[in-house]
Amino acid sequence: MASPVELTAMRRAIELSLNGASTTPPNPDVGCVILDATGATVGDGWHARPGGPHAEVDALTQAGERARGGTAVVTLEPCDHTGRTGPCTQALIEAGIARVVVAVADPNPVAAGGAATLRAHGVDTELGVLADEAAEANARWLTPFRTHRPFVVWKFAATLDGRSAAADGTSRWITGPEARADVHRLRAAVDTVVVGAGTVRADDPRLTVRLAADDATDAAGTTDATGAADATGAADAAGVADAAGVADVADVAGAAGAADAAGSAAAVAAAGGVVGAERVDATVPGGAETVGGPMPGGAGTDAFPLANAGAVMADGGAALTDAALTNAAGATGGAGAGGGRPAQAAVAPGGPAVVQPLRVVVDSGGTTPASARVRDDEAETWIATAEEVGATADGRVDLARLLTRLYERGQRYVLLEGGPTLAGAFWRAGLIDRVVGYVAPALLGAGPAALADAGVNTIDAAIRLDVADVRMVGPDLRITATPHDHRKA
Ligand SMILES: NC(=O)c1ccc[n+]([C@@H]2O[C@H](COP(=O)([O-])OP(=O)(O)OC[C@H]3O[C@@H](n4cnc5c(N)ncnc54)[C@H](OP(=O)(O)O)[C@@H]3O)[C@@H](O)[C@H]2O)c1
Repeated sequence: MASPVELTAMRRAIELSLNGASTTPPNPDVGCVILDATGATVGDGWHARPGGPHAEVDALTQAGERARGGTAVVTLEPCDHTGRTGPCTQALIEAGIARVVVAVADPNPVAAGGAATLRAHGVDTELGVLADEAAEANARWLTPFRTHRPFVVWKFAATLDGRSAAADGTSRWITGPEARADVHRLRAAVDTVVVGAGTVRADDPRLTVRLAADDATDAAGTTDATGAADATGAADAAGVADAAGVADVADVAGAAGAADAAGSAAAVAAAGGVVGAERVDATVPGGAETVGGPMPGGAGTDAFPLANAGAVMADGGAALTDAALTNAAGATGGAGAGGGRPAQAAVAPGGPAVVQPLRVVVDSGGTTPASARVRDDEAETWIATAEEVGATADGRVDLARLLTRLYERGQRYVLLEGGPTLAGAFWRAGLIDRVVGYVAPALLGAGPAALADAGVNTIDAAIRLDVADVRMVGPDLRITATPHDHRKA
């Protein structure tokens, strides 16, 4: 049974795990604390990015010889395989660790088995310590294993009176530049962005990631020890604004704040911890550049691993070479049958490089025109039709099957960017794991609501949320929350 000192260390490890929040995808968020033989903390660490040291190694490095005979307290079962880095079990054994306290068993068949290996080497190993808390902190990574679908974050922007657009349909500047910059950082953390056909018809968004040069600084590890403010506030709006002056859902909706960053930041702020770096892997100096990245779901690289969930998680994700993934530039409408092409990492001049997420338009009849901006060649696009995915009784795209299709292709982290009709359908189907809402200090008094029919007809049926984080992003309020019954789902 875990001692009080070990429980305290585990709480600290959970806080630390969130430092990587938006840089670790598609890897898990993991924290570790090393106690020496007397129970004193001699090292702590977290996993910051794919290809970087795992939390255990980070913490062991700090502890050095003081780890010998000590205890490692870690939020996820130490890995037992050689991936981009060596097995953590080996590192713990070689460091002379006598006891390992683990919160959550590793559900990834490729990396699992760490506890058994440790025990086989005489290391006293305990699993399940503060497992619920640690699982909540790592929900983004754990949920797909449990549900066999990607983790879904719904982001929206609304006025204080809950309007997502004006009565005449204009909605571009609901939120300020800082909130809009948040959207781009969130997009940079996910592997898939989803919108409804209605939003494409109304706004013709591009749905690409356009990060500001400032984000490179964030990526280097800017943290806020108080948890009271985060990197989002530092965004350079000018750098994020669409250079072509093109309206975008992000520009329209303000959006999505770092799903992960936001959600994690919430828990961290509550715990008085730190908020971590953004998911950006490199700064490409000297102007705009396109860097070929991995096929989504295919083998990744350390430099641009971010759309590579399938390969890292190795739990069934197939390579995204499916013909359904259209090369937008070459598609002519409907569920295009063009071959997939590598995701690209677009960067602003002097800005950080990111892998562009897959863009998915939920478009029952395949009416998205070839000229739609979402079909440009900046990123890969899938026009998901009812014929290809499967239809519900009303002839629309079956959303559960849509997510299954994405999961099968290795996509693990979805940002649902609206609009209200599609978001309502996702809620009705119980397919949303986290909400990031931006509330602008403005009133419209008319216009569509942020959320359309979500299947709620009476107050008792209201979808109740647990608020994880509330913060100002420029002049706007950002609220991150999870469905109240999320853990039971
Ligand atoms: N403030 C914000 O955060 C925000 C974000 C995004 C958009 N918006 C605004 O929202 C407006 C567009 O919203 P919208 O509600 O009209 O469109 P939407 O939610 O983007 O798209 C709805 C459309 O998606 C298609 N669809 C396919 N399968 C579906 C399913 N299972 N369930 C529901 N829909 C499905 C349907 O069109 P088909 O029948 O043709 O397939 C449906 O009409 C725009 O004014 C835009 O500016 C605001």
